[in-house]
Parts: sequence; structure tokens; C-alpha cells
Amino acid sequence: MSASVAKPIDPPSTSKAPPSSTAGEAARVDPDIKHHHPTRVPEDAPAQVNSRRKRTLPTFSLEGKTCVVTGGARGLGYIMSQAFIESGANVAIVDLNGEEAAVSAGNLQKTFQSSNPDAPEPIVTAHKCDVSSPDSIRASFADILTKHTSGIDVLVTSAGFTENFKAEEYPHSRIQKLWSVNVDGSYLCAVEVAKEWIKNGKGSGSIVMIGSMSAVAVNVPQPQAPYNASKAAVRQLAASLAVEWAPHGIRVNCISPGYMMTALTQKIIDEQPDLYNSWVSKIPAGRMGNPVDLMGTVVYLASDASAYTTGADIRVDGGYTVI
Ligand SMILES: NC(=O)c1ccc[n+]([C@@H]2O[C@H](COP(=O)([O-])OP(=O)(O)OC[C@H]3O[C@@H](n4cnc5c(N)ncnc54)[C@H](O)[C@@H]3O)[C@@H](O)[C@H]2O)c1
Repeated sequence: MSASVAKPIDPPSTSKAPPSSTAGEAARVDPDIKHHHPTRVPEDAPAQVNSRRKRTLPTFSLEGKTCVVTGGARGLGYIMSQAFIESGANVAIVDLNGEEAAVSAGNLQKTFQSSNPDAPEPIVTAHKCDVSSPDSIRASFADILTKHTSGIDVLVTSAGFTENFKAEEYPHSRIQKLWSVNVDGSYLCAVEVAKEWIKNGKGSGSIVMIGSMSAVAVNVPQPQAPYNASKAAVRQLAASLAVEWAPHGIRVNCISPGYMMTALTQKIIDEQPDLYNSWVSKIPAGRMGNPVDLMGTVVYLASDASAYTTGADIRVDGGYTVI
């Protein structure tokens, strides 16, 4: 049996970040509403993963499965996509930024092939999609099925964003936009795959929603009430859909990450170094999380190893929410 061992990666350097001249496009719903973070952020490097040589429990394997990851072009979705490939799956990356998704899919495929030259080449595809739009989701998922003809087995909803405004100053249109991506996007994608599974009588399927520790803790000092509420909604959506779809063999779980060091958070910290110290001082583990810290959790929830786990929320936050 084969296994992979992930080593934490150094946070990527941000020195090559292009200027944020097109800020706002990364999570666009209404083209008139611009979103603060830049479209192009420094690329997240793939994690360093040793080749598959260790024994591991077979139920953790994703051999032969197809995993769809929304928001997989970068950040947490990107590294979770890599975890799936390393565990034997084919992957469809679904992202608003189609160009970046294509580059990321190519990089992940190349990274796997170079450390596993004798292994069969995984199918890794990219699909442009706005997860806040039902039409866009329908078109993307139809496109996925033309390239992954055995069907979808796993969905991870990682597309989402945050922004900071004092509550009394937060424009209503921006709140609607945030919720349409974070909440509607998770819900609509889940329904899209579940409908197919129920129609085909598949009898199995795993959905993993990416929430946040902000669903249960008001993390400070940044003001982000609508984001926190959106993540509480995601967590409760996962639980509710788990109950509703359990008779169909569909499992729905939530992962609630704490502060994770992606290229984007690295950039924010570079601009506001005091924020890093303030965040870390409240984390019992004494450090921010690395995206590789999510690899095992997401593979567990996607795989048969978690066959009896549904409606759960797993916090991966270095202990932040227990104190
Ligand atoms: N990074 C953290 O510290 C952290 C902590 C807790 C939870 N989260 C959650 O994890 C998820 C991923 O965060 P990240 O840090 O990887 O962010 P990120 O910005 O690095 O990646 C998010 C991806 O989602 C895509 N996206 C945005 N809007 C979209 C839309 N409308 N349709 C399709 N794709 C869209 C972006 O293009 C991007 O590729 C988010 O839901 C976030 O709230 C992140």
C-alpha cells in the first residue's frame, strides 16, 4: 500500500506580486461591485510531498474517485486538490479565475508526475465558474462530466472570500455579494452534485464545505460580522444537508480552518505585520496553520475512512476556538 507524507512548506514570497490594478475581479458577482483583494496574488507553491512508499489504511485511498474542488485555483483549495491527487484521485478545479485554474491544474499534474514517474497520470481539469450563479454552476458541472466520464464522487466547496468593514459602514450590496459567494455558492454547488447522485441512485458521495473558525468565534481585531455569519451559515448548511441526504448515502461535513498561511494571508501580513503577532498570540499552537495541515482532514472526509461521519464540523485551528 502506498502513502504520502506532507512536509510544511515555507510561506511563499510575495516579492513578485503584480500590482493590484484590477482589484475586485477575484470574486465578482455584480461586475459593478469591486472586491478588495487583487485578482492576481502571489502563486501558492504546491506542497512538498514525498512519493508514495508508506503503508496506510486502504480506506483513506481515493483511487478511482473524482473530486471537484471549488476555489481550487489557489490557496486552500489548491493544496486540498493536491492532497486528492496524491491520494489517487482525479480532480476538477472549479474557479472564477479560469486562467489561474488552468495553470494550477497543470502545475499539480506536473508536480505529481515528477515525484511519481511510474504512476498513472491523474486527470486534472480546470473549469471557469462563478459559484454564485446557478447558470454558471450548471454549465461548469456539465463540462466536468464530459471530462470525468465516470462521474463525480467528492465535492469540496472552498470558493469564498472575506473583507473587513465596520458593521455600521458595510455597504449592503457588498454584504449580499459576500453571502452570494460564501453561502449561496456552497449551497448551489452541493445541490448540483447531490441532484445527480440522487437521480442516478449512486448511494454514496461526500461533500466537504469549507467554513471557518469564524463560524463559532469572533476573531479580532478585524471587523467582519457578515463573513462570520456566512461561515456560521455554511456550517449549519452542512449539518442540515447531511440529515436531509443521509437516506441517499450522501455525507456532508464541514471543515473550519483557523488562520491559514496562504499567499493571500502572507500578503496581508506583510502589509500589516502587527496583525500577525496579534493573531498568533491567541493561537494555543503558537503558529498560523499551513494549508498542508488541511490535507489529512479533507482526505479523511472525502474517503471511505469517514463512512460513518456526517454532519460533523472539524476545526483545524491550532486550538483557537477551545479557549
Ligand atoms: N486562508 C484562511 O486563513 C482561511 C481561514 C478560514 C477559512 N478560510 C476559507 O477557506 C476558503 C478558501 O480561502 P483561501 O484562503 O484559500 O482564499 P483564496 O482567495 O486564496 O482562494 C479562494 C479561491 O476562490 C475563488 N473564488 C472567489 N470567488 C469565486 C466565485 N464567485 N466563484 C468561483 N470561485 C471563486 C478565487 O478565485 C480563489 O481562487 C474560503 O471559503 C475562506 O473563507 C480561509
